[in-house]
Amino acid sequence: MTPILLIGCDGQVGWQLQRALSPLGAVTAVDRAQCDLADPVAIRGVIAALKPRIIVNAAAYTAVDRAESEPELAQAINATAPTVMAEAAKPLGALLVHYSTDYVFDGSKPTPYVESDPTCPLSVYGATKRDGEDGILAAGGRALIFRTSWGFGARGQNFVKTILRLAGEGRALRIIDDQVGAPTPAALISDVTGQILAATRRGTEIGDARLYHLTAANPVSWCGFAREILRQAAATPGLEGLPASESVAAIGTVDYPTPARRPMNSRLDCSRLENDFGLDLPDWRPFLSRMLQLLALKKSNGY
Ligand SMILES: NC(=O)c1ccc[n+]([C@@H]2O[C@H](COP(=O)([O-])OP(=O)(O)OC[C@H]3O[C@@H](n4cnc5c(N)ncnc54)[C@H](OP(=O)(O)O)[C@@H]3O)[C@@H](O)[C@H]2O)c1
Repeated sequence: MTPILLIGCDGQVGWQLQRALSPLGAVTAVDRAQCDLADPVAIRGVIAALKPRIIVNAAAYTAVDRAESEPELAQAINATAPTVMAEAAKPLGALLVHYSTDYVFDGSKPTPYVESDPTCPLSVYGATKRDGEDGILAAGGRALIFRTSWGFGARGQNFVKTILRLAGEGRALRIIDDQVGAPTPAALISDVTGQILAATRRGTEIGDARLYHLTAANPVSWCGFAREILRQAAATPGLEGLPASESVAAIGTVDYPTPARRPMNSRLDCSRLENDFGLDLPDWRPFLSRMLQLLALKKSNGY
C-alpha cells in the first residue's frame, strides 16, 4: 500500500482527511505531539522514518489575530515547516499536498482572484502563508497547494460555532457585511483532496508544483453567513429558539477593528481546479445544514 503521511491530523481539515485519505493507502497520521512543526529536525525525522509517497500537511498556525504578536512562531510553522517538508519530499519523489489561504491577497481586486494574481498579504498570518507557498515552489519538487477560505465543520473552532454560541447567550450580533468570501467545509476540502489524489493514481501526472484555488461555491459576506446560520438553525430540530436571522445587524469593517487586517474581497476563482480535474465545486449551504444536524444530535445526546 502507498505510504501516506498526514501531518496535523487533529485540525478541522486534518480530521476529515483521516477519512478521505484512507482508501488511498496506508495513512500514518501525526499530531503536534508526534511532529511539532516548530521543530524542523522533528519534521525531517518523521519523513525520513516513513519515506512516504504522499505527504499531506494540514497543520498550520491559524490564529490570525494572535499571529500579529507572534510573527516568529507563525513564520516557523506556516513558512519554514512546509519548506522543510518540500525539501525532504523532493529526493523521495514524494508528492506534497499543502493548504494556503485567501489572506495572501489584499482584497482590492473587484473580481475573484485567480492563481496567477500577485499576492499582497495584509496580515502576518497571510504573509507567513504566502512565504510557505513560495518555499514549496522554490524547493522544486512535486506539490499541490490548495488555497481555501473561511473553513468550517462540526469538529474544531470556527465562525459557525461562534455565531451559535453568541446567539445562544442572547448577545446582540453585529457582523461585518463588507468582507466577502466563500465559506468552505473542511469535509469538502478533504474530499476534493482525496479525489485529486485518486486521479493521480489513475495516471494524472503531478510532475511539478501546482497552485489551485479550492473553495465552495456562492460567496457571501460574514453577515450573510451569520444570517444563514441562524436561518438554518431555526429549521433544525434541536437548535430552535435562537434569535431570528433578521436580528443580525450589518456593520462595516471600520466598525470592528481587529489586530490583523483582512481582505474585503476573499473570493477565489476555482475554475483551474474544476477544469483540470473535472470537478464542480458545490454550494456550502447543504454542508452547513449537515453540520447543524450533527451539532443538534450531539446536544440532544450529551455526547
Ligand atoms: N480555517 C480556515 O478558515 C482556513 C482558511 C483558509 C486556509 N486555511 C488553511 O487550511 C489548513 C487547515 O486549516 P484548519 O482549518 O484545519 O486549521 P485548524 O483547525 O486550526 O487546525 C490546525 C492544526 O494545526 C496544528 N498545529 C498548530 N501548530 C502546530 C505545530 N507547531 N505543530 C504541529 N501541529 C500544529 C493544530 O494542532 P493543535 O490542535 O495542537 O493546536 C491543529 O491540529 C491550514 O493550512 C490553514 O492555513 C484555513
